[in-house]
Formats: sequence, structure tokens, C-alpha cells
Amino acid sequence: MFGTLKPQAPDKILALMGEFKADTRQGKIDLGVGVYKDPTGLTPVMRAVREAEKRIWDAETTKTYTTLIGEPGYLSGMSRMVLADALDTDRTAALSTVGGTGAIRQALELARIGNPDLTVHVSDPTWPNHVSILNFMGLPTATYRYFDDATRGGDFEGMKADLARARKGDLVLLHGCCHNPTGANLTLDQWRQVSEILDRTGAVPFVDLAYQGFGDGLDEDAAGTRLVVGNAPEALVAASCSKNFGIYRERAGVLLAKVADPAQRDLAQGTMSFLNRQTYSFPPDHGARIVMTILEDAALTADWKAELEEVRLGMLGLRQQLAAELRELTGSDRFDFLEHHRGMFSRLGATPAQVQKIKDENAIYMVGDSRLNIAGLNRDSVPILARAIVEAGV
Ligand code: LMR
Repeated sequence: MFGTLKPQAPDKILALMGEFKADTRQGKIDLGVGVYKDPTGLTPVMRAVREAEKRIWDAETTKTYTTLIGEPGYLSGMSRMVLADALDTDRTAALSTVGGTGAIRQALELARIGNPDLTVHVSDPTWPNHVSILNFMGLPTATYRYFDDATRGGDFEGMKADLARARKGDLVLLHGCCHNPTGANLTLDQWRQVSEILDRTGAVPFVDLAYQGFGDGLDEDAAGTRLVVGNAPEALVAASCSKNFGIYRERAGVLLAKVADPAQRDLAQGTMSFLNRQTYSFPPDHGARIVMTILEDAALTADWKAELEEVRLGMLGLRQQLAAELRELTGSDRFDFLEHHRGMFSRLGATPAQVQKIKDENAIYMVGDSRLNIAGLNRDSVPILARAIVEAGV
């Protein structure tokens, strides 16, 4: 049996992580995987997370199973954080999952059960693992234009034209904020127009919200999601706590499914519960419990929000510094898009050869499509990167 296995294509983001680790050069800079780093290069445990862990340690008397769908307090806290006023509790089922990726997978399984003929529309480009999961599941996909390589901004006219081709019951996968890999985001008015197209076509929005709080703020980053989910009769949201709570390895995610009629809610909830049982039974609890502990305590929530805001503003400052350095070095504003992008990532627009040159000559690692993780920089490494970009002829 095992002799028939074929090598799987390596995930290019994870492969780059390994390559960076193996590089022995002093002063190497990791702008690859989407992990936040503080100015000293550390991915810190957030203050509120540490405090929540202490409280859990003190109070926890058992490690017995919770429920198949996860801790109710976690699910309601996350549902409110993501959807706020757009949350229709009578029509929304929620599931605790193994990270955001687990939520994506369960969302696709659920959608496929509901509509075996669906096509999933993804942005071009999108997070490579979206495509990989879809291909692995054998789900038909279509791409919609999203990014304008010339301006490094959005191609909204292209996006609208392509989305108009979606059929009733198809899924349209949207990045809730901080588009990965480009950093180019929709305005609220553009979200409104997307919502109208979904309404006309009958396609179902499926929002991947992995970076809430990393772009313009916790509420601002969820505004587009709230708008489309609020307007749509049916919707799916996969949210991750990895980045905004900094609990990457704890694997805390949540899947929200909005159904057309309250009478369908229990059926959706039961199917989601079944999907967890078939995949891994009970979802992991520790990360979810940390999030629940924070969200259920006003002081912890305030402290977590304050630290998240520091993280967000730090990334914005680095964006501004990098754009300013490049303005200075090139005497042009052609890299100003870096300042306008939001979140961890920006697609620089370098060729694969230029990305390779930057890596070979400067030990600066970015993904081959020239996605760079702004949070991998600090005040001292920004000028080094700016010079490397110019020397590579980007
Ligand atoms: C990324 O895009 O770098 C992150 O979402 C981490 C991952 O799992 O790929």
C-alpha cells in the first residue's frame, strides 16, 4: 500500500520556513510565514493570554471532554466578536475547529453536503492552501480577478465581472480583511457591491477571517464580513484566533454558518457536529478556553485589545517607514502601495528571480510570489530591505 504513495508537492510557505531555519547567515530576515514578530524578533505570548492561562490553571478541575461542537462560551464570544450586530442567533450555527484551517475544511465539507454541485470561486491570487485544500477535496474551483499587478491595488472591475458568473449555490471565498497574499483590500462600498452581486447570482459568501484586528481595527476589519453576512440568506465564516490572540500552536478556530430559515439551524448545527466527530471528534479546548476567558472578562478584553492595537500600529508604522525609505531611494512613489495595503502581507511585485536574488545576496526571505510579511521587519531591518529591493531591480 505505501509503495504506491507519491510525493506531495511541498507547501511553499512551510518549505520556506524550513529553508530559513537552515540558513546559518548572521542577520537573516524572515518575511515568509504569516507569524507576528515584535521588534526583537519574538512572537510573544500576549499579556491577556498569559493571565487567562494562569486563571485556567488555577480553576480547572478536570480535563474531561467538553462538547463535540466546543465550549458554548467560546462560540458565543467569537460569534459576537466576528459578526456583532450582523449576528442572527436564530439562524447561525457555530463550531469550534482546529484553527482557521480546520474551519475552512469543515466549511467546505458542509457546503459540499448541502450542494454537491457547487463550484468554489477564489480570488486570484489567494492563500495557496485554499487552492491545495480545494484540489485535495476534488472540489471544482473558479478564480476571480482580484489584484492589479501594475498598481498593486485591487482589480475591482475584473472581480465584479468574474463574480457575476457565479451560479446559485456556488461558494464565493472572500478574505474578510488583510488579503493574503496581496495586502490589497476592498473598501466598504466595494463590499456592498459584492453583496449585491451575491444577491443577484444566489452564490453564497464564504468569508475567511484570519487577521481580524491586524488591518484597520477589530470592528473595521470585520465590517465587510458583517455586511455580506448580514445581507445574505446563507453564509459561512471561518475565523481564526491564531494571529489576533497570538495562539498559533493552540489551534483555535471557529466556523459560523448562517442558514436561510431558523428551522434549518439545528440541522446545520447537527451536521457540523457530525463533521467534527468524523474528522477528529472533540475540538481542542485549551486555545478556545483562553479566548473565552479573555472575552468573558472586561478587564482582560480591554488589555488584549490594547495589545492588539499596539501590534497593529507597529505594523502600520513599518509600512510607512518602508514606503518612505523606498521613496527616498528611488525618487518615486511607486512603492507607496506598501503604505496603503493592510495586514501582515504585501505583494511586492518582484519577479521570482528578484525574490531569489534578495534571498541569495541579503538573506531576506519572502514567498516566491514576492509576498512579504511586514511583521517580520523592525526599524533596523526596514532600510536593509529597502536597499535590497532597489538593488534587485524591483
Ligand atoms: C501564512 O499565510 O503564512 C499563514 O496563514 C500561515 C500558514 O499556515 O500558511
